[in-house]
Amino acid sequence: MGADERPYSPGLKGVLAGETALAMIDGDAGRLQYRGFPIGELVERGTYAQVAELLWTGEWKTDAHLGCASLPTEVIDVLRRLPASTNAMDALRTAVSAWGAVDGTLWPPTVEQARALTAAAPTALAAFARLRDGLEPIPPDPSLGLAAGFLHQLTGQRPDDAAARALDAYFVVGAEHGFNASTFTARVIISTHSDVASAVAGAIGALKGPWHGGAPSAVVDQLHEMGSVDQAEAWIRSTLARGERLMGFGHRVYRAYDPRAAALRSVAEGMAGVAGWLDKAVAVEEIALRLLAEHKPDYAIKTNVEYYAAAVLQGVGLPPNLFPATFALARHAGWTAHCLEQAAANVLIRPDVRYVGPAERHLPG
Ligand code: ACO
Repeated sequence: MGADERPYSPGLKGVLAGETALAMIDGDAGRLQYRGFPIGELVERGTYAQVAELLWTGEWKTDAHLGCASLPTEVIDVLRRLPASTNAMDALRTAVSAWGAVDGTLWPPTVEQARALTAAAPTALAAFARLRDGLEPIPPDPSLGLAAGFLHQLTGQRPDDAAARALDAYFVVGAEHGFNASTFTARVIISTHSDVASAVAGAIGALKGPWHGGAPSAVVDQLHEMGSVDQAEAWIRSTLARGERLMGFGHRVYRAYDPRAAALRSVAEGMAGVAGWLDKAVAVEEIALRLLAEHKPDYAIKTNVEYYAAAVLQGVGLPPNLFPATFALARHAGWTAHCLEQAAANVLIRPDVRYVGPAERHLPG
């Protein structure tokens, strides 16, 4: 058989692998829209509940509300059995899997399933965070929105409006971002006529990897390590000289400033609790952008979403070890919306692979 001459792109880089009406990403111009609405407008004037409904149904519902849901006791029992040292992403993935087992979700995915799973996930993460500290989970208050309800279940206190609004804005920004690795994973799983809980559990597994889930906690660590703003330039120069990367900068798609970073920066600017940290972050960002432009003059490396996500998540009082799993909570809307979109025009996702192993041969004797 002759060599297979079909085009091959490692990592599917640049390959069109589907169609979506959910997110439009223009990396060169730094634009992101959900179903046509610019992300900046959605953050300023929308809520996560409205954005989730928009992604699931295509409609902008002015009265949309989504509160945290109770969990079946079996799911809480599973979380109780995890060691306190469990990674929060592993705990969330396990909870989603257990939720699917108890709920018995089946193909095809529905908007009701999308709502139910998105509403259950924050309860699961908050319950795990309390159980690992030897505290009992707090039942959800369904009158609160998802972000406020999550904070309430973590701390037992109703969050103030500013914190609730800031985390809700973070959830809007994290809700959806095209064919990233975790979303593609969810679509592959649902394309086999599997169920939405399996798809989301797989997506969480993909997001857990440091090449995808990002690390706003690493932004916090780097800003801490470099010391004062006066020391930043020397620290950044030596980091780049060692071939290491600056966290919170660079993106596969964006060559311009990530519009999600811009939206979160203005949210963070409204948060009194992080004012000092933010002043430093803004000053360091300016230095970092200048040095990155010198370092890679032919490849634009700009601020990404993780940089200011770190400010918002710290500002609402979340510990850094919950940052990636909190991002996963926000992305539930996008993952489940992609499941609905995939199922509506389903084709089994099963690409070809080029064989590069030995030619036909035979066992000895
Ligand atoms: N700091 C220093 N150098 C960088 C950075 C950075 N943040 N980002 C890219 N580069 C350099 C690379 O070292 C590489 O240089 P080389 O050609 O000399 O080897 C060149 O730019 C291209 O790097 P790639 O990894 O091929 O480019 P890509 O655009 O695909 O990288 C990525 C995207 C992985 C996000 C990268 O920018 C990075 O590692 N950033 C730091 C980690 C981070 O902030 N991650 C969060 C991303 S946002 C999210 O996932 C939600």
